[in-house]
Amino acid sequence: MNGKRKKNLWTIPHGQEPTEMDKIILAAQDRGKVVPTRSLIKTPEQIEGIRRAGVVNTGILDMLEGKILPGMTTQTIDDLVAEYTARHGATSACLGYEGFPRSCCTSVNEVVCHGIPNEFEVLRKGDIVNVDCTTILDGYFADASRMYIVGGKTSAKKQKLVDVAWECLKIGEEVCSKPYVYVGDIGNAIQKHAHQNGFSVVRDLAGHGVGLAFHEEPDVDHYGRKGTGMLLVPGMVFTIEPMINMGTYEVFCDEEDGWTIVSEDELPSAQWEHTFVMTEHGVEVLSH
Ligand code: MF3
Ligand code: CO
Ligand code: CO
Repeated sequence: MNGKRKKNLWTIPHGQEPTEMDKIILAAQDRGKVVPTRSLIKTPEQIEGIRRAGVVNTGILDMLEGKILPGMTTQTIDDLVAEYTARHGATSACLGYEGFPRSCCTSVNEVVCHGIPNEFEVLRKGDIVNVDCTTILDGYFADASRMYIVGGKTSAKKQKLVDVAWECLKIGEEVCSKPYVYVGDIGNAIQKHAHQNGFSVVRDLAGHGVGLAFHEEPDVDHYGRKGTGMLLVPGMVFTIEPMINMGTYEVFCDEEDGWTIVSEDELPSAQWEHTFVMTEHGVEVLSH
């Protein structure tokens, strides 16, 4: 192998016959495509573990429905998340992750992601809030986020942003209705839909492999070209989590806290995230 390009290599264990999956992966590899390593393929037991973590994680986001009200602080959201997580025998992957100080991310209006819940941030009617939770149960990770509209109603423009971000996630899921698609197929479809609606796609943050750790290979970009990026094969677990901006796709990180990602023009941003497992018949949702 020449040392110019770092490449994943799919190999057949010594003395084994290649399966149908092996043949497809080897053929893609021969055409110069990015393929996974075997370490990214979860066993059925691991998938069941991630599914159980996903049930708790989805339960958190369900519990919050109808509870995010005008006048409450983002700290209260975090308190609810922490309490539910503990009561279900789980832990938050966010808490203490690279020094992150809370059990979830709360990203309000122009905050794209990684907002830190705090007792000074009071929610107002019409705010749009992303709550992003990642739960660890028995060592398995599941990651999902939703948009919540404070007081149930927002402006037409912000509602459209929230809706288009949801459609972008669903379009990504639809692309994965069969195995052996590329990460770039997802990004390409999402980008088209966002642009058709006059919105932009954040490029600096991506979806990711997940399950045995918080962030695994591959990066799942929400923009790009068909046929680029990693081939998605049965047994892979990953997120799709498009961040859709009303204005520019560019973002900056708050220097004070080192976490909060804000749109460069400070126009609103919306995001939805699911954890999926790829199967022979396309993706199944493990957390939503
Ligand atoms: N849950 C986020 C994601 O979807 C990551 C948050 S990292 C944290 O990948 F430290 F801010 F919690
Ligand atoms: Co994620
Ligand atoms: Co997340």
